[in-house]
Amino acid sequence: MTMTHVSISDRVFVKNFAMLLGVLVAMTFVLFVLAQMVAAQLPTEDTAEMQAKMQAKKDALAERISSVGQLVVAGGSGSTGGTTQVASAAVDGKATYDTTCAVCHVAGVAGAPKFGDKAAWTPRIAQGIDTLYQHAINGFQGTVGFMPAKGGNASLADDAVKAAVDHMVKESQ
Ligand code: HEC
Repeated sequence: MTMTHVSISDRVFVKNFAMLLGVLVAMTFVLFVLAQMVAAQLPTEDTAEMQAKMQAKKDALAERISSVGQLVVAGGSGSTGGTTQVASAAVDGKATYDTTCAVCHVAGVAGAPKFGDKAAWTPRIAQGIDTLYQHAINGFQGTVGFMPAKGGNASLADDAVKAAVDHMVKESQ
């Protein structure tokens, strides 16, 4: 038996095997090329399309927002100023005092304890700051006169009234 002696079934097997390998190699090549095409083409197409769509959405949105924003700016500049004033009054006890409380408390109208009058304020301060807050916020009928709730300005926030009380107490002790 020499090396050249190959049986028929072996030849068939080798031939079929070679064909199978060839087909697999060809398929690999085709798939590789396809993958390259997909990778090279589809993403760039997608990105460009998405960018265009997003830009269109942004433009539409900007247009819608701009009209709303203009309305707000046009109608709201005055009220914005008002809101700022209220907000600053809420934390600025002196401002609240000046605008609402000073009317009575500077001159002692109707028996109001005068601003800065230590003798008038000492017994009141002795009641405790919470009592003073209560009386200023809810109103108070005392022995000398009537302290209206929030000094008659119902729109004041409780904290604004408290801050005004703090301001009066601080300057009167
Ligand atoms: C219309 C006049 C008037 C205004 C405005 C007014 N008060 Fe008075 N307030 C009085 C009078 C009168 C008293 C004294 C009442 C008493 O002792 O009989 C008083 C008393 C007080 C007292 C002492 C309460 C106590 O328990 O002794 C505080 C605190 C006070 N006022 C805070 C304020 C604050 C804060 C404001 C502004 C937000 C204000 N008042 C605005 C008239 C006023």
